[in-house]
Amino acid sequence: MAGENESLMPAKSGIRSYVLRAGRMTDAQRHGLETLEGVYGLEFDAARPFDLDDIFGGRPVVAEIGFGMGDATVEIAALRPDLGFLGIEVHAPGVGKLLSELGKRRLENVRTVRHDAVEVLEKAIAPGSLAGFHVFFPDPWPKKRHHKRRLVTRPFTDLMASRLAPGGYIHFVTDWEEYAEWARAELDATPGLLNAHPLSWAPRPDWRPVTKFERKAAAAGRTVRELEFRKA
Ligand SMILES: C[S@@+](CC[C@H](N)C(=O)[O-])C[C@H]1O[C@@H](n2cnc3c(N)ncnc32)[C@H](O)[C@@H]1O
Repeated sequence: MAGENESLMPAKSGIRSYVLRAGRMTDAQRHGLETLEGVYGLEFDAARPFDLDDIFGGRPVVAEIGFGMGDATVEIAALRPDLGFLGIEVHAPGVGKLLSELGKRRLENVRTVRHDAVEVLEKAIAPGSLAGFHVFFPDPWPKKRHHKRRLVTRPFTDLMASRLAPGGYIHFVTDWEEYAEWARAELDATPGLLNAHPLSWAPRPDWRPVTKFERKAAAAGRTVRELEFRKA
């Protein structure tokens, strides 16, 4: 399995969609990481793909890429105990925060992976195995010279499409107008994906909570745009 889609991604380009900053971690976040990563965290191993059926007890699985502090993750997971949520994030304080929330709220249907989502999808997720992707407010990389770092860009969108089961979805949200247009064009150009709302932006789904991140964007006067694509 591991080799099947490797050709989709540029060979060792070294371009990443994130920069790891040595951010401060609160005591609660550190405690979350130290005590709960062994409970809710999955260890990435390029040689050992995840057995999603076993991990999530046969539930359909939605992967969230770049969950930040996990504010949306916990709310959505609490609403949908029938689904499994695989949260992928590289930022350790955010992973610690989500882990401590999972512990407090005793949510059983979420697992975290603290690793680059590109590699996780390539090496640890079987083709056709996911029910959906959540990509909420990914880093917009506004400067032109940084556009190549944008997550929702081919060939990464091809890799996402390959990991979806038929009928699976990608729900993308951004407060950066130009990134919304960019993502729509990249997803439109991805074979096997269809825009569920080709004549407009997607409506806000009632299951997506307003997070602190989104409130800040609104306060700064930025409009939130949503896209929903489906695998044919
Ligand atoms: C602007 S934040 C948004 C966080 C969150 N989704 C929200 O709505 O508040 C983007 C997040 O994506 C994460 N990220 C970016 N590229 C990633 C990658 N390749 N793998 C895992 N996480 C990534 C960053 O660390 C960051 O926390």
